[in-house]
Amino acid sequence: MERDTSKTLGKSEYIDTAIFYDLGLNNNYYPDVKFYQSVISIYKPKSILELGCGTGRVSIQLKSNKLKEITCIDLSDKMLDIFRDKLLFYPTEHQEKFKILQMNMIDFDLNNKFDCILIPFRSFQCVTNIKDVKNCIQNLKKHLTINGILIINIFIPIENMKELEGLTEQKVLNKGKSKIYKTVTNDKIDTLNQIQNYSVKYHKEKSNQYVSESFKLKYYYPAEFLYLLKSNGLKIVESYNGFDLKRELPNSTNDFTVICQKD
Ligand SMILES: C[S@@+](CC[C@H](N)C(=O)[O-])C[C@H]1O[C@@H](n2cnc3c(N)ncnc32)[C@H](O)[C@@H]1O
Repeated sequence: MERDTSKTLGKSEYIDTAIFYDLGLNNNYYPDVKFYQSVISIYKPKSILELGCGTGRVSIQLKSNKLKEITCIDLSDKMLDIFRDKLLFYPTEHQEKFKILQMNMIDFDLNNKFDCILIPFRSFQCVTNIKDVKNCIQNLKKHLTINGILIINIFIPIENMKELEGLTEQKVLNKGKSKIYKTVTNDKIDTLNQIQNYSVKYHKEKSNQYVSESFKLKYYYPAEFLYLLKSNGLKIVESYNGFDLKRELPNSTNDFTVICQKD
């Protein structure tokens, strides 16, 4: 019998840490953005839906002549507020393409179909309950046009995830005088349900004040992830280790990204 001790996260996630989120990804720079821009220029979708869009780091940078509407959903009001604020710095015609909605990717209903559904930067892994995972896949299929593409990203776990338990990684996020540090600590790794619990703490140099939040991600090994997608009615078009469409560069970020369609 499948044991499922996990809980899907609540609406309040990223309540304290959202303001640091983009800084943690070098102010939007992560090699995935170029990858999604290239895929969009190849498939030329008229409409995009992003699930778990966060601060809009990826979608806000997608442009093509054919692209008329970009709908973005996320559970976290705080992340969406930042997205809306960032969008104000873009030309009106770009702003007008966006619909930003607070919704859950498990059970959203937009009564619309999209040529492209994007789930970048591990957002899909925030859904940790396997029933919710399957519901999410059925739901996103309902929102995908017949020839539409789904692009979904996960991280590739290490062989023995238990080894991560207790490990901490710290990095400096800015170059300014007052440094901001991001510290990620791996908490319990639930190897039965393949769930990584971790916490993220941000603090300023020479200050005792900090904000921190705990998160959980369901992890998948690439072959089982492809099986999950296929056994839930999706066909694999391409899969990539990393973000190099030409497959010439090594995978520097441990990412696994799959392009699929409805079977
Ligand atoms: C790691 S962030 C990724 C954000 C963005 N896609 C990016 O690439 O920067 C994960 C995001 O997924 C959102 N999220 C988690 N579970 C969700 C759910 N069930 N429905 C909608 N959004 C969810 C979180 O609020 C968070 O903004």
